[in-house]
Amino acid sequence: LGTMRINDMDNLEIGGCDAVILAKKYGTPLYVFDTALIRERCASYTKTFKSSKTETEVIYASKAFLTLAMCRLIDEAGLSLDVVSGGELFTAMKANFPPERLYFHGNGKTVEELITALQYNVGTIVVDNEFEIEMLQYLCAELDKRVKVLLRVNPGIEAHTHAYIQTANNDSKFGVSIFSENIYELIKSIHESYYLDLRGFHYHIGSQILDHNSFVKAIESMVEFIDKVRTDSGYETKELNMGGGFGVYYSEHDNDLDIEQTLTAMVEAVETECKTRRFPIPKLLIEPGRSIVANAGTTLYKVTATKETYGGRKFIFVDGGMTDNPRTALYDAIYEAALANRMKDETDTTFTIGGKCCESGDILIKSIQLPYPKQNDILAVASTGAYNYSMASNYNRIRKPAVVFVENGKSKVVVKRETYEDILRNDL
Ligand code: LLP
Repeated sequence: LGTMRINDMDNLEIGGCDAVILAKKYGTPLYVFDTALIRERCASYTKTFKSSKTETEVIYASKAFLTLAMCRLIDEAGLSLDVVSGGELFTAMKANFPPERLYFHGNGKTVEELITALQYNVGTIVVDNEFEIEMLQYLCAELDKRVKVLLRVNPGIEAHTHAYIQTANNDSKFGVSIFSENIYELIKSIHESYYLDLRGFHYHIGSQILDHNSFVKAIESMVEFIDKVRTDSGYETKELNMGGGFGVYYSEHDNDLDIEQTLTAMVEAVETECKTRRFPIPKLLIEPGRSIVANAGTTLYKVTATKETYGGRKFIFVDGGMTDNPRTALYDAIYEAALANRMKDETDTTFTIGGKCCESGDILIKSIQLPYPKQNDILAVASTGAYNYSMASNYNRIRKPAVVFVENGKSKVVVKRETYEDILRNDL
């Protein structure tokens, strides 16, 4: 994937840097990001999406992976940024991310977060519910601001993905169902508000979706809705944000979603539906997170021990685990891995990779063929770029790893490894 290859030492190389040397230089566990691949993914989204006649915008969903350096990279790549909390917003502000290209999401925004967003002149606020809409109008009046909003709606499409990352079924906690009775009233009230400039609608049907039919089905349902809104409240939708969710390759169980084909099918579906119903095509927005960063990330671990259980299971233990990658424990995620210092050795034994936390569920990989490792071998787990660093924890008071960007044989630390002092920082 990306710039990964096996070098002359038979070691794994990423971005022209030997993974074994990276592990030695910066310590383990270590998150390594192939920035050339991130740029390539950003460019391919922009290029494909912009090639249609319809006006478009690509927004990076920062929840997948956000640091100051990542903010700058996204800014340089010309994408907009979706933030969902005061912390993500603060990071964007500190990185001087242009506020007009920020989208502030979330179903539980606090008053403080909304005030910060308004004071920073965040471009668009994606509102989730009636309470938030009322609160936002009140705050706008207090601060004498007008703000663009998108209303998050729920098209009721169930994407075939893990239940925890489905978002658009009828009982979802997100947005307002397009089938709910009060939605037209709500739209009317936003539309008539002096303080809120209703640009249109946002929806997101789930994550790690590998079949492009769900995306197209959601569009059909949304355009029908937009048409109804038009006749019922006379409101003409200017923007349609279709969310993220584009699935990526993690292991051979995943067919690869062709992004170009999917985006083209989505744009075509909107264009055709709008033409048939004879109304103007809105500006189209998408919000990919995972598909920008997942494959660009690799986590390097040191092998600390091996063990064969009485039941006959062979474990490899590493110096990290669910604290740096909770996805296997949470979603039964499947990852591929290799011994970075022995890339050409025969992978002849089946292992379970266990983390160091006091928890039986702390497994990184349930079953994988690898060479029999020695202590201090370097295990590289692939495609850990999304929702790993961003979901890392300090369980068992384990320090969060450092993050390193690699490109063209150069590496730089963009997030330092936490120290034990950091762990105690807020203890009184
Ligand atoms: N937009 C909205 C409103 C979202 O809620 C999400 C993801 C995205 C965009 C980006 O979706 P993506 O392109 O990354 O699939 N922690 C889970 C994933 C949770 C996704 C939450 N929302 C995981 O590790 O699989």
